[in-house]
Amino acid sequence: MENANTEKKIILSGIQPTGTFTLGNYLGAVRNWQKMQEDYNCYYFIADLHSLTIHIDPAQRKKQTLEAFALLLACGIDPEKSLIFVQSHVRSHAEMGWLMSCCSQFGELSRMTQFKDKSSKHPENINAGLFTYPALMAGDILLYQADYVPVGADQTQHLEFTRDIATRFNHNYGENFKLPEGYFPKAGARVMSLQDPTSKMSKSDTNPKATISILDEENVILKKFKSAVTDSEAKVCYREDKPGVSNLMVIYSAITGKNMADIETEFAGKGYGDFKVAVGQTVADELKPIRERYKDLMNNRKALEALMKSGAEKAEYIARKTLTKTQKKLGLLPASR
Ligand code: TRP
Repeated sequence: MENANTEKKIILSGIQPTGTFTLGNYLGAVRNWQKMQEDYNCYYFIADLHSLTIHIDPAQRKKQTLEAFALLLACGIDPEKSLIFVQSHVRSHAEMGWLMSCCSQFGELSRMTQFKDKSSKHPENINAGLFTYPALMAGDILLYQADYVPVGADQTQHLEFTRDIATRFNHNYGENFKLPEGYFPKAGARVMSLQDPTSKMSKSDTNPKATISILDEENVILKKFKSAVTDSEAKVCYREDKPGVSNLMVIYSAITGKNMADIETEFAGKGYGDFKVAVGQTVADELKPIRERYKDLMNNRKALEALMKSGAEKAEYIARKTLTKTQKKLGLLPASR
């Protein structure tokens, strides 16, 4: 990181520690994060402060944070190339979050669809953090003067909000923040549930057959693909009215790099059975080294903690610069040190 090429653009993204990543998280996001390391200065973090907006058992949160960190490493995020850290270890995030909250309007936060969705799903816990969540997220991004933020469709509104806050701040207090742009990689596959291919594969799905965890063992993966929902035509082709097979093709294509036409040719005249085995085996082969690296990492807790510590220190050093500049612009009296 010390020798990071300053010409390179900055990419930043966060992922919440709310459960083992799915094949969807992997093919849709994390695998691309790993690829982007060569061309960008990448900052990736576990958004544990964001996870406080929903109720999770504290012991569970702790465990999942450690696991998520190890999973990113296992998926090939290289701490020599990228900055990887846990959000709450870098105090600037919480501090910047407050400053950004004070620059956010009640009206604009009220319009966030994620807030509306989550508050209707958890009416028993509509906490203030759930409401100011976009301000914390804006702080995460602006602290690092990020150029690009790879986010899923569910987060684009938050990114727009970040740009709005940054624009307003720069206008009111003088140039301070770079305006981040969304990053939508061409290769980002949108993976759907194996049981209901019209909805996204989700960590929180209650049907275990619907999702592939990236730590699933080979036999489990093969079994889940065998029972994936398809249709009765028994012809491998990519069509809107065949969401099940199309989803399997998306997965197969994302890993092998083959396009849809190639896949149709490869499986012409073969039934779904063969195709499902092929997809399952491809996925199992892709995930095997990740599972092994993950086990090694989790067995060496000390080394893992050392990586967390150095990641957090480097991040804090970078983030502090913007935080200090922002505090100054807002007229907070500098503390004597
Ligand atoms: N809100 C994001 C999610 O739930 C996670 C996140 C937090 C994030 N801060 C971020 C993503 C900053 C990108 C940039 O998926």
